[in-house]
Amino acid sequence: MRVYLDNAATTAMDDRVIEAMLPFMRQHYGNPSSVHSHGREVRSAIEKARKKVAELLNSSPTEIFFTSGGTEADNTALVCGIETHGIKHAITSPIEHHAVLHTLEDCAKKGKVKLSLLDVNNKGEINLDQLRELLQANPNSLVSLMHANNEIGNINDLAAIGGMTKEYGAFFHSDTVQTMGHFVHDLKNLPVDAIVSGGHKFHGPKGSGFLYVRKDKKIHPFIHGGAQERNMRGGTENVIGIVGIAKALELAYEDMAGHRAHIEGLKKHFIESLQYHLPEVGFNGLSADFEKSLYTVLNVSLPPSEENRGMLLFNLDLHGISASGGSACSSGATVGSHVLRAINHDPERESVRFSFSRFTTKEEIDYTVEKLKELYGVTV
Ligand SMILES: Cc1ncc(COP(=O)(O)O)c(C=O)c1O
Repeated sequence: MRVYLDNAATTAMDDRVIEAMLPFMRQHYGNPSSVHSHGREVRSAIEKARKKVAELLNSSPTEIFFTSGGTEADNTALVCGIETHGIKHAITSPIEHHAVLHTLEDCAKKGKVKLSLLDVNNKGEINLDQLRELLQANPNSLVSLMHANNEIGNINDLAAIGGMTKEYGAFFHSDTVQTMGHFVHDLKNLPVDAIVSGGHKFHGPKGSGFLYVRKDKKIHPFIHGGAQERNMRGGTENVIGIVGIAKALELAYEDMAGHRAHIEGLKKHFIESLQYHLPEVGFNGLSADFEKSLYTVLNVSLPPSEENRGMLLFNLDLHGISASGGSACSSGATVGSHVLRAINHDPERESVRFSFSRFTTKEEIDYTVEKLKELYGVTV
């Protein structure tokens, strides 16, 4: 049996997304910047996709810019947010995705900003009192705090953080890559200035994404070139990806509650089965808290075991189970997770991030529990 429990790294494409993209590989190949009919029909598909995304997020099409994914959108928001708004101080946390952390570290290295990192406790919760103090001391800061953590699943309260950033006139960017397509984002009522998305996290194509920037917080372009994306991103558009991500988001919104109920049911069953068979099991961050974590992620901390030390992911892989030890986004190499380090996770215990999608089945969960029992010598 092959089991895929690495949906926070990427998801399988939905067939209906592929169907929507195919005509743009076959018949509609015009360059959207061309003014002839071949170009115009493709331009109209891009604008239709933009309108759809904007509608679903309760925003305006002029606030949506298509990108090559979450990483590019994060880089654009941070680098250009800082430059455009003359920002000299940035605040983030040590458990952000590297698309944010490395970008802000680079800005700090180049002397563009002073960077402050918020404290996190051993559950991965951010110190919001410290955020307020930093905002008070540094007006015109940029704050970048993710909606949900891709490794331990912790959800940040964007309304509360956003409200605080507004009090102090800060620019608020949130990496929403893990929540887009899984949670509703109501941007007319959420105090964020920029959020991002990568289509492959919700059954869309890899290399597709978008950036939302609030109308009154406009920023300069990151990629210079032609006038595409209303002068915000030069380069011929990834038409196929744009059509795909819009379709994927539409499908995600069509039955979000149903998908959530299905996945939450599986996560609950997984937690209960693990606790029953492996009583020493723990869950990293807030990932076992249904109110405060992504329903798509469960980060499991397993008891110390000689047989599995440093080998657990490999052993699971031998049984056909694909999961992850942390973020799988940056490279194939197994490097320690900066998130688990930041929350002082015991290095003697192996951690596995299992992540689910609407395509995950109970059979996959049960098979995984059986294999974990075998690997940990549990016979009952
Ligand atoms: C929280 C988070 N931010 C950013 C990214 C990068 O997105 P992309 O792969 O679309 O560049 C990922 C995953 O890859 C992620 O999980």
